[in-house]
Amino acid sequence: MGEIKGDRTAIQKSIPGPRSIFGAQMNMVRFYRNPLVYSRWLYQTYGNVVALGSSKKPSHVFAFGPELNKQILTDPDRFGASDSLVKIPRDTVLGRMYFNNLLLMTGEKHRQHRRLMQPAFHRQQIRAYCEDMVQLTHRISDSWQGQAEVELNHEMKKLTQYIAVKTLFGLYNEAELERMGKLIDGLTKSLVFATAAPINLPGTPYRRALRIAEQLNHHIRSMITKKRAETDATDVLASLVQARDEDGSFLTDDELVGHAFTLYVAGHETTANALTWSIFLLSQHPDILSDLLEELDGALGGSDPTLEKLASLTLLDSVIKESLRLLPPAGIGVRITADTCELGGYEIPKGTNVYFSQMVTHRLPDLYDEPDRFKPQRWSTMKRTPFEYLPFSAGEHMCIGWNFATQEMKVVLAILLQRYRFSAVHNAKISPNLMMRPVHGMPMHVVPQDRQFQRVPVRGTIHRWIDF
Ligand code: HEM
Repeated sequence: MGEIKGDRTAIQKSIPGPRSIFGAQMNMVRFYRNPLVYSRWLYQTYGNVVALGSSKKPSHVFAFGPELNKQILTDPDRFGASDSLVKIPRDTVLGRMYFNNLLLMTGEKHRQHRRLMQPAFHRQQIRAYCEDMVQLTHRISDSWQGQAEVELNHEMKKLTQYIAVKTLFGLYNEAELERMGKLIDGLTKSLVFATAAPINLPGTPYRRALRIAEQLNHHIRSMITKKRAETDATDVLASLVQARDEDGSFLTDDELVGHAFTLYVAGHETTANALTWSIFLLSQHPDILSDLLEELDGALGGSDPTLEKLASLTLLDSVIKESLRLLPPAGIGVRITADTCELGGYEIPKGTNVYFSQMVTHRLPDLYDEPDRFKPQRWSTMKRTPFEYLPFSAGEHMCIGWNFATQEMKVVLAILLQRYRFSAVHNAKISPNLMMRPVHGMPMHVVPQDRQFQRVPVRGTIHRWIDF
């Protein structure tokens, strides 16, 4: 057993939590079905450290609250990256693509790769992406003219996918955007099953994932060759290709392919879901939407946003913060214990999956008054530490794209809200899942902005998340 931090006598071995004759998996199913209600119940019933399954040798432990978030996220030697569920062989094209991924790297290797990738996300570089974001938002929203209803989540996914492909690879042509998007989407869909059961037989998700990974690998490699020859490209891949560490080291082709793939996967659906909920929450709060439109009018007067103008839009910033507080697209994170260790007064065995919960932290009444209400104005005076408010996580693995995503959300919202009025379809079923995907979609009426804001009632499990 490894060395345990803290006062040994006070450390308890038996961790409280619900027991089920079906083991931890049944409780995990309950969690996935109803993430917020279930994890709040765990916290309120058992306290800030909760074991699912056996109390002394649990496979899953939930840890709640800022103090434990800090302990988990600032001690990567004890709480490391969790890839225990991923069974893909590393020496395949798919394995190389999947494991060359910042989230699964640790220690010096992780720090070096982050250093090499950081320039692609510097403020100056993000400025260059702003114009792409503006143009693509217009391109997608032009197509809504004359349509009475859109499925907003689908449209936001299309938009963030276009923005990701353009800013990552420099592709703009519609056919190229579609092709790349289709390949990556096909791979991520097959991966859901392929990571747990890599069975290489015809017709299996793993075989399909391998086939798409080969095509994608080939396609990204040919782009890397082109980027090496270009000197004026401003996309993320070009920046990664040119990156050199102080000792002259650089990213290999396998690493470049892996990072390009994971940047796309990590970035586009999260941002699409965040945008979908921001628009939905505003449509349900006409007074806040009206104030926001006034702010946009004053600063932009119908024109497109620039980085300088975005900086003055304080209510827009608060709306995004509040929406990410209530409905965070990454509402839970996981680490695996590298050795037996102490957490919140309990002994956690080596190899345990430890979950930290943005979702519960963001709704602690001690930190947020009326925690279930959408109140963007709270952010005009309120400051929270990185462990009290963490939609982009905290510590070494904090989202490398947080600035990119925040700017993208600001640009897209500033344009769409000035152009259109969105209102929910009457009695539509609106239900977020754990990743904040609205599982029945987000049907919305969209008309040219006329400021006739009105709250439309909806059904669904959203009422368990938001107190309207
Ligand atoms: C609203 C949008 C987004 C949200 C809510 C989000 C959230 C997160 C969170 C919570 C983590 C850390 C997970 C952990 O600690 O286990 C993370 C990591 C990461 N994100 Fe994001 N993300 C967003 C957008 C983006 C974008 C746009 C990109 C890239 C363009 C991106 C790329 C990454 C990468 C590469 C990591 C791994 C960082 C590391 O391990 O060092 N994300 N993101």
